[in-house]
Amino acid sequence: MIDFHSHILPGIDDGSKNTQMSLAMIEEEKKQGVHTIVATPHFYADEDSVERFLKRRAHSYERLQEEAEKNNVELPKMYLGAEVYYFSGIGQASMIPELCIQGTGILLLEMPFTQWTSDMLDNVRALVNRPNMKVVLAHIERFYDFQKRKEVWDEIMDLPIYRQMNAGPFLNWKKRRKCLKLLKQQGEVLLGSDCHNLDGRKPNLALGRAVIAEKLGQEYLNRTDALEKRLFES
Ligand SMILES: [Fe+2]
Repeated sequence: MIDFHSHILPGIDDGSKNTQMSLAMIEEEKKQGVHTIVATPHFYADEDSVERFLKRRAHSYERLQEEAEKNNVELPKMYLGAEVYYFSGIGQASMIPELCIQGTGILLLEMPFTQWTSDMLDNVRALVNRPNMKVVLAHIERFYDFQKRKEVWDEIMDLPIYRQMNAGPFLNWKKRRKCLKLLKQQGEVLLGSDCHNLDGRKPNLALGRAVIAEKLGQEYLNRTDALEKRLFES
């Protein structure tokens, strides 16, 4: 299992507060059968420079590695990435490749929590059209209700993009039905825990997947796993 979306690196965003918390989160991920974690701390272009962000991320990961060694914890395979919040002009922004998941052209993009506009569509399209870039839209289920007019949503979903969904909403009986419907509608998606801590937003990928397996069948998850593998290999 790959956890495609996590805030598990210590002290870098609103996720894990320190190395001890990160190690406990990692132990929980391993217990659930996660062998690969994509670390995706928030990146906000209006608050941070890419250079500073990458330095902070490297430092945070180093501290995690040191702490793991001290505590005899074997870290799972980790990819360093970012959850990049949308900004106008992102389609042409030259620093975007540096924010892709390390060693890949995969960009985890967090769209605005508003009605999406045609300007957003143009920017996402420009990103998708860049050579070697694969755009993954983070937790699509969180934006759906903001789209009172679905035209831009539909056009963005028709682009050759990848969609990511969080495990959490599948565990919430109020949100489950809607999310399953969206999942069926969107076909293959990537799954992530979007874990931030050990209580309200803890690692929960296995639990979410169990709900999906029960409702849509294990075959659906096999396709998800194959898609995730393909994405990293291509
Ligand atoms: Fe996130």
